[in-house]
Amino acid sequence: MKLVAAGTMVLFSFVLLLGDNEAGEKAKFTIPQVMAKAHKSGLYKKVAAGEASDAEKKTLAELYTALSKNEPPMGDAKAWKEKTTALVKAAEAAAKGDDKAAASLKKLVNCKACHDAHK
Ligand code: HEC
Repeated sequence: MKLVAAGTMVLFSFVLLLGDNEAGEKAKFTIPQVMAKAHKSGLYKKVAAGEASDAEKKTLAELYTALSKNEPPMGDAKAWKEKTTALVKAAEAAAKGDDKAAASLKKLVNCKACHDAHK
């Protein structure tokens, strides 16, 4: 048992290290991954409706942070940054318990507007 635990710890630190090295350079998730996990799954709706757990809210903030670090296949880079930064801010505030910010996601997550410009 002890050995297994130690092995897990080593693996875990290794993952953390890798994560650290990538910070600020590469996004943790690709755009299609964020679309599946945050949008198709309905997670953003749950957060907006105030029905998400703290862990789910944190996940959404993480997903949007990754989204903002990606480059869209098309469209203006500045407009992309503005749209995705607004999502990050709202999701991070929601994760800290700001219900108004959470509700604002309903309007901020405009599938069509963003797809028309960047997809
Ligand atoms: C901030 C911009 C933005 C918003 C908001 C957004 N999307 Fe997307 N979405 C994209 C971009 C960019 C792509 C194209 C990704 C690519 O091809 O690499 C995409 C692709 C997708 C895909 C295809 C993913 C795949 O596997 O190729 C789905 C499904 C999707 N979006 C669903 C949604 C839904 C549903 C919503 C609204 C609830 C939504 N998106 C809101 C930017 C956005």
